[in-house]
Amino acid sequence: MIDLQDRHFLSTLDFSVEEVRHLVRRALDLKARARDGTFPRSLAGRVGALLFFNPSVRTRVSCESAMTRLGGSAITINPGKDTWNFEVGDGVVMDGSTQEHVRELAPVLSRMCHFIGVRKSELITVGSARAEASADYAELARDPFLHALAEHGEVPIVNLESNRFHPLQGLADMATMQERLGEPAGRKYVLTWTWHPKSLPVATPHSQMLAAADLGMDVTVLRPKGWELEPAVMVAARERARSCGGDVTETDDPSAAYEGAHVVCAKAWGSLDYYGRFEQEAEDKAPLRAEWTVDEARMDRTDDAFFMHCLPVRRNIVVSDGVLDSSRSAVIDEAENRLWTAAALFAALGGK
Ligand code: CP
Repeated sequence: MIDLQDRHFLSTLDFSVEEVRHLVRRALDLKARARDGTFPRSLAGRVGALLFFNPSVRTRVSCESAMTRLGGSAITINPGKDTWNFEVGDGVVMDGSTQEHVRELAPVLSRMCHFIGVRKSELITVGSARAEASADYAELARDPFLHALAEHGEVPIVNLESNRFHPLQGLADMATMQERLGEPAGRKYVLTWTWHPKSLPVATPHSQMLAAADLGMDVTVLRPKGWELEPAVMVAARERARSCGGDVTETDDPSAAYEGAHVVCAKAWGSLDYYGRFEQEAEDKAPLRAEWTVDEARMDRTDDAFFMHCLPVRRNIVVSDGVLDSSRSAVIDEAENRLWTAAALFAALGGK
C-alpha cells in the first residue's frame, strides 16, 4: 500500500522508484477514466495555491485543469505582480523591494489552501540584470525559496520548476514513455543538449534524466564538453537506474549516442561552469549552433526512436520542422500527460 498523503514533492528523488512509478500508473489510470467518464472528484472542496515567479503555459494550465477536474480549485498568484514581493533571507532588514517574508507567507497560505505549488527558477539571459544576481550555480541549486516554503508551510509543497528540478515534467515524460514503449526498461534513451540563444536552467534535463533512470532505461546524456549536468544528480540518476536494471552514461559523440536509440529527448541548458559568464558562454557555444539540432538525418540513425521535448521549443534551432511535424514526435502527448500526472500527484498528496 503506497500512501503519499501530506508529503512534499520537491524532486522525484524525494520519492522511491516504486512511489514514482505508482504515480505514473495512477496518471495513466486517470487518463483512461477521463476517456470513459469515470474521472473521480476526490478533491472536492480542496484548494491549491500556485505561485508562478516565472512564465508558464503547460504547468499552469495542467495544474489548474487537474484541480478543477478533480472537483477542487486552484488560485494562481504571480508574486511581485499581483502580490507583494516576497523575502526569503534570514535576518534581512526589509527596507528594500520585498514586503512579506516567506515565514509569514507559507503558514498563511497553508491556513487557506490544501497545498502550495511554486515555480521559481532564475531565467538566465545574456546581459540581463538577473544574470548578475545568479552567478553561482551552487547557490542557486539550493533553491532557497522552495525549501523555505517546505520548512515553514503546513501543507504539501509542490515544485513546479526550481533551479534544480522540474519533477512534474519528469512524471509526464515517464507516462509518455510508458505509453509508447509498454516496458521501457532496457530501452535506449538519449537526452541530447541543443544549442539555444539563452542559457537555460538545468532543472528540466535533470528531471528528464531521472525519469528515464526510474524506468530502468539505458540512459545516454549527449552534450558537448563543458555542458555536463550536475555531478551529484548524475550520481543519483545512475544509482536509481542501476537499482532497476538500467544505467546512465555520458558522451559528446552524437553518432554513438543516436545509434540504436528508442527515445530522443532534446533540451537546451546552460553550462554550470559558465554561470556568471553568460557573454562568454554565448561566444564559446556559437560554433555549436549548426551541429546540435535534432533533424531527420540524426533520427534516421536511431532504432525508430520517437522524439520528446518538454515545450516550449524553438523550431529549426532545437529540432527541425521535419522531425517535429512527423509521426515520430511525441511532444503533444507529452504535454497532455502533464495534466494527468499533475492530477495523479494532487490526488495522492491531498485526497480525502
Ligand atoms: N514544460 C513546461 O514546464 O512548460 P511551461 O514552461 O509552459 O509550463
